[in-house]
Amino acid sequence: MVRKEIENLLNNAIKKLGVDGQASVSFSSLPGLCDYQSNSVFSLAKKTGQNLYELANKIVETLEPTALFTFEVARPAFINIKLTQKGYDYFANLLYKDERCGVKKISDQKVLLDYGGANVAKALHVGHLRSPIIGEALKRLYKLLGEEVISDVHLGDWGLQMGLTELQLYEDGKLDYYFSGKGAEPKLTLEMLNEAYPKASARKNTDEEFKRRADEWTLKIQNKEQPYFDIYRKIREVSVKEIKKHYSELGAEFDLWLGESDADDYINKALDIIQDKGLARISDGAMVVDVAVEGENIPIPKKSADEVQRYKNPMPPAILKKYNGGALYATTDIATILMRNTEIGSLNRIEYIVDARQKNHFVQVFRVCKMAGISPSDQELIHIGYGTMNGSDGKPFKTRSGDTIKLEDIINMLIEKAGEKLKSNGVEYDRQLALQIGVAAMKFGDLSNNVGKDYVFDLDKFLSFEGKTGPYLQYTACRINSILKKAQVEGGQINIESEEEKEIVKNILKLNSSYEIAYREKSVNNLCLATYDLASAFSTFYNNHKILTEKSDKKKASYISLLKLVRKALTQALAVLAIEVPEKM
Ligand code: ARG
Repeated sequence: MVRKEIENLLNNAIKKLGVDGQASVSFSSLPGLCDYQSNSVFSLAKKTGQNLYELANKIVETLEPTALFTFEVARPAFINIKLTQKGYDYFANLLYKDERCGVKKISDQKVLLDYGGANVAKALHVGHLRSPIIGEALKRLYKLLGEEVISDVHLGDWGLQMGLTELQLYEDGKLDYYFSGKGAEPKLTLEMLNEAYPKASARKNTDEEFKRRADEWTLKIQNKEQPYFDIYRKIREVSVKEIKKHYSELGAEFDLWLGESDADDYINKALDIIQDKGLARISDGAMVVDVAVEGENIPIPKKSADEVQRYKNPMPPAILKKYNGGALYATTDIATILMRNTEIGSLNRIEYIVDARQKNHFVQVFRVCKMAGISPSDQELIHIGYGTMNGSDGKPFKTRSGDTIKLEDIINMLIEKAGEKLKSNGVEYDRQLALQIGVAAMKFGDLSNNVGKDYVFDLDKFLSFEGKTGPYLQYTACRINSILKKAQVEGGQINIESEEEKEIVKNILKLNSSYEIAYREKSVNNLCLATYDLASAFSTFYNNHKILTEKSDKKKASYISLLKLVRKALTQALAVLAIEVPEKM
């Protein structure tokens, strides 16, 4: 809000001078020198051919008088801006009174977010950890900034894993009741699924015949043949219950609990559209759509920075029907877009928060949808690809024996480690509290990295109560709550006096602009940092000022309001990151 105010002042002056162009303002890169700066004179002068320094001075001289800022020109043509005492007071009180702490709504688009993406019948593993964390934060960010957001968990429930799991259960004699009517109806449990899928998945790689039969079973499920389909429904139910439990522990909430299978009615419709447009061809019995564009080569990821960039073949065709007529991952994604555009409608954007390694898949799906008109040309289809969560060895996070880690184990580890931490801080163990802190540690550790980058899962570091961590932010919010509870004083007019108070105001303003940066970058790492900076500015203030014992009523009331302002700004930011603030810690 301050930047806009300064930009308006500068632009009025620029207009008055008859100069063509606009000024923009940013936070100062030299905070000791000034609070804000504008470097726009460089480009403005280029247009008019005027002397840089002269033009900068002219603009500053032409400004309408204001009590909120001071302006100074620094050679060659920087305009340095400082908030005055009055300016600090004015903006602090404005922020304090604003329900949203000065965060503006900037978009009214309607967006569908596809995240979560757990697979039915397969145990949730660490690869499914980032999507709900990032997706939930983006959803909340978009909503705060004014958008209408619909979240869909898009379960993987229509693929080969269904056939593999059922066939394995059948071979292990667990499904006799359904096929020969022998014995009582079995109770399908999570343990049974957790055993059957990995077994079948490994077997399909070495046993051709088994793989072919699993394809067959999958097709039977997709064609809703009995008893295959009924068994599938039961498996799905058991799995979804478990998935819901884990996502709720992670604080991920979904408006829609749909899956690939829900788009089944749209598969044939989508394929008809694609065929009518003449986009499909048959290759080795499969139906494919060529999506490569002219001159396209696919870069092969470099193993080190100095390696020469190499390329592989153009984007391979999207396969929409298997040799046996079965649907594939791309087919269900295309059908789902058709379903969303038919049943929900007027979506400006559909965003997928999915592992970056699925990039090609989404390129294929999006291209087919655009070529076929399944996605209108003005609809944005976006894959927000996240990097890999690595272990301390820099390789994808695995168990010691090299197996992928189950999500459940990670959650238990978070609880256990956070519990130990609490104990060593003298706080009584409480599972809920340990979960809150452990999840916050995980989330902040994840979200404070740019979304596309790989990062190292370092739980000890993430769990520290000091430094750039989730628990530190929770702790700060708790501390403010407890001071305010003790204070028993109503707040009053805020008067900003010390440098520490100024820092708080500046950091709230920075935090506010970080929401827009996060929106633009589709990554909340900046927002995480700005939230930390505000918490840290508060700590510095708190360490240097006595609040509860302050003698002057007026000053004390001002402090209390400032604290309430910090709490509001912090809580708002933590709510976007989906980090809960515990009662005490
Ligand atoms: N189930 C998929 C997987 O485990 C992720 C789903 C992502 N969403 C999508 N619309 N494809 O890889």
